[in-house]
Amino acid sequence: MDRLIAPLPGRATACEACSNQPAAAPGLAARLPCVCAAHEEALEGLMARAAAFDHEGPDHPKRVGRIAALLAEEFGIGEQDRALLERAATLHDIGKMALPEGVLAHRHVLNPEARRVMERHTVLGASILAHARAPWLRLAAVIALMHHERWDGSGYPSGLRGTEIPLAARLVAVADVYDALRSDRPYKDAQDHGQALARILVGDGRVGPAQFDPKVLEALRRREAEIAALPR
Ligand SMILES: [Fe+2]
Ligand SMILES: [Fe+2]
Repeated sequence: MDRLIAPLPGRATACEACSNQPAAAPGLAARLPCVCAAHEEALEGLMARAAAFDHEGPDHPKRVGRIAALLAEEFGIGEQDRALLERAATLHDIGKMALPEGVLAHRHVLNPEARRVMERHTVLGASILAHARAPWLRLAAVIALMHHERWDGSGYPSGLRGTEIPLAARLVAVADVYDALRSDRPYKDAQDHGQALARILVGDGRVGPAQFDPKVLEALRRREAEIAALPR
């Protein structure tokens, strides 16, 4: 995981908060040594609650995780760390739960004041996860804080640029924007795969390649067929 969150000092090594029994459910969680059955149950509730706050629909967080994990493979990230990333990325917008009521109810593009409030979901998300010790939740905190940072420094909350942004957040940034473009929102229709890809790789004035890590865009080009085929 060091490659995914290198800029953060320190790390925990294992789930110490319980007996660390393997998760009962098969699949992703069962492959994660730091996710026990009890945490898994709590997490499912948390993810479902967080997803309810997403304009892109309840399956958006899981798709973002899947896409980020696919892209991570192109960076030589191993299977276990990809599984950590996939799970952690599902919590990228968890901070939206803590926004004032009404901000997410906007059915149009946000005005500057509402946008500033909305941008706080990054620091709020990190604060919700700030005391986590399990590695994947620490990774989730990094992603929640930095998934709107941009390669060219024009992102938020800190205006980080280039490799100041952890790789995990650079991967999720591309996955998140791609999936948001593919999704219906109250104020816009979903785009097809080709349109979404073109807006990211070529740009359209609002979204453009300068905001993303060029190597992640290269990975997107290489894996686009698999991403296009993901169920929606
Ligand atoms: Fe976000
Ligand atoms: Fe998102």
